[in-house]
Amino acid sequence: MKEVKIESVFQVYEGILELPEDLQELMQKAIEARQKAYAPYSKFYVGVALLLDNNEVVLGSNQENASYPSGLCAERTAIYYAGAQYPKAKILKMAITAASQLRTTLEPIPPCGACRQSISEYEIRQKSPIEMYFMGERGKVVRSYSLSNLLPLIFDKSQL
Ligand code: THU
Repeated sequence: MKEVKIESVFQVYEGILELPEDLQELMQKAIEARQKAYAPYSKFYVGVALLLDNNEVVLGSNQENASYPSGLCAERTAIYYAGAQYPKAKILKMAITAASQLRTTLEPIPPCGACRQSISEYEIRQKSPIEMYFMGERGKVVRSYSLSNLLPLIFDKSQL
């Protein structure tokens, strides 16, 4: 038996204003997308903005359903839209923000496990990293150099 250590490194920004200017703009778009979320059940509003290598910005927000599992997270709404609309474009950056109507969300909110798995499909397919930035309603922003940095020991098509 041997032990394997996997290390993930993240950058933590004190707030949006500490981000490079292009990222401030992308996060601002994610905040606007968040306001369009349809989340009457959880009252947890998530917004995403993707920057593609064709310069398009794709927005997404969570879309809930009375049949709870039929709803979809903001991250998957955005990447599936990007994949459907611009199948040849690479996703360069993803900005995520989440806010709850029930409390103030100050800690950075990372994408859920199912979203990480879904985003990883796109990162592997495009053969280049998707830079991830995530925050709560306001406050600190966390950067991950890639999706795989957020999801080590990933299940991917090479294992099928
Ligand atoms: N949600 C997202 O949109 N992204 C995540 O990564 C975590 C959760 C949504 C799903 C649901 O509409 C609400 O947040 C509460 O889970």
